[in-house]
Amino acid sequence: MVKEMTGDELKSMLKSNIHFKSLDGLKEPGLKLTDGQLEPWRAMKLGLFIHWGLYSILGRGEWAMHNEKIPAEEYAKLKEQFNPKYFDAQEWAETARNAGMKYMVLTARHHDGFALWDSPGSYKNYTSMNSPAKLDVVDAYTRACREAGLAVGLYYSPMDWRFPGYFQPRELLDNALLMKKQCHDQVEELVSKYGRIDIVWYDGSWLAHKGTDPDGAWLWDPITLNKMVRKYNPQTVINPRSGWEGDFFCDEGSHPVHGQIVPVPWEKNMCLGSGVSWGYLPGDTVMTLPEVITMLVNVLTRDGNLLLNVGPDPEGRFPQEMVTRLNELGEFTNKYAESIFGTRAGPLQPVDDVFGTVYQDNKIYLHILDPQAFAGIDLEIPGYIEAADVLTGGSVTVEQTEDRQTIKLGKLKPAVDTIVRLEMREAVKPLVFDKYELHRSK
Ligand code: GLC
Repeated sequence: MVKEMTGDELKSMLKSNIHFKSLDGLKEPGLKLTDGQLEPWRAMKLGLFIHWGLYSILGRGEWAMHNEKIPAEEYAKLKEQFNPKYFDAQEWAETARNAGMKYMVLTARHHDGFALWDSPGSYKNYTSMNSPAKLDVVDAYTRACREAGLAVGLYYSPMDWRFPGYFQPRELLDNALLMKKQCHDQVEELVSKYGRIDIVWYDGSWLAHKGTDPDGAWLWDPITLNKMVRKYNPQTVINPRSGWEGDFFCDEGSHPVHGQIVPVPWEKNMCLGSGVSWGYLPGDTVMTLPEVITMLVNVLTRDGNLLLNVGPDPEGRFPQEMVTRLNELGEFTNKYAESIFGTRAGPLQPVDDVFGTVYQDNKIYLHILDPQAFAGIDLEIPGYIEAADVLTGGSVTVEQTEDRQTIKLGKLKPAVDTIVRLEMREAVKPLVFDKYELHRSK
């Protein structure tokens, strides 16, 4: 049903299910993309996140340097071991494309400070170019994305554990400002030297491991930083984790997605593995295919994008089981692409663990996770259903009066996600939400 909601209604609805990071970022008129400019990103729906760096050599998670209190000089010796035998960005991109993904986001530089490109702005020339590999990973990666027709995303961590000023920004302000300069210089390198960058994905603008990203904004000056990004490409989609509010909201982690349609642009980012680490973890478990499909359905039917993370091993290869899962996911997404890519959530609110809807033009797709529970539900879909079929195999009949439909499922081919396509007489109208802003609770 098309329904107008009040801000309060939306606020209480959101409390229950999605955990957005970095709310209350700085605002700057005109810096945010318009709904229209953001549409291509929203249509992409599915992306591959890649965490790769010196921490992959240790295989104990991308926080190893900090968690294990490894001194910066000690940790930096890993650079001399960075020489991946099997790094092949084209293979990464192929894997993502086969999975049906439309974009990738690579950790150009994580919190440990090691830059995966030839970076003149890097403090102490701490780069993959200045390693035995003599490799500009970002260069190879950005080319491979474009060749495979994928949008190019780069992750960048403003904070860098090598700087004492990170831990005591006010006391060691000069050092903290050196880190800030590195951040502005390096982001400029990334958005100016590698062609068009479609997505800039910040992470770690909080300070001394306290507070939130917006709390660190006094140091980073994220407005100047992101105005610079826009100068090189006015359409770059920017996440909310620089201290500026960004173009979309971020829900990070493996927790399930439930509740109603989220009335703001958002992305769920999570690991395809156990979620213990984003970087390579030997022997990590991998989500099952039904788990991945269920997550994708839950995100899609609440109007989000899904960014699934893989941590390549020290030699540059994706763990084999993850590749297998991504290929299986690809069989699903390619076969049912019309019910995934380019859709928007609605016109019905989802029912947790039972079903949700997305639409495109005059088609509505019901993604049904529990056909038995679905059988008892009467739907109120605005408009007249001209035809119905089950994309995943099986039969369906529709009984309808002017404003009420009963969708009767016949014999179905067993599926994690039973997809029913409804052809409507007219184009489906989007749900209407109030103009709505999210805030941290005080
Ligand atoms: C966190 C972690 C980090 C990981 C990221 C992914 O903020 O600091 O290790 O890269 O989330 O969203």
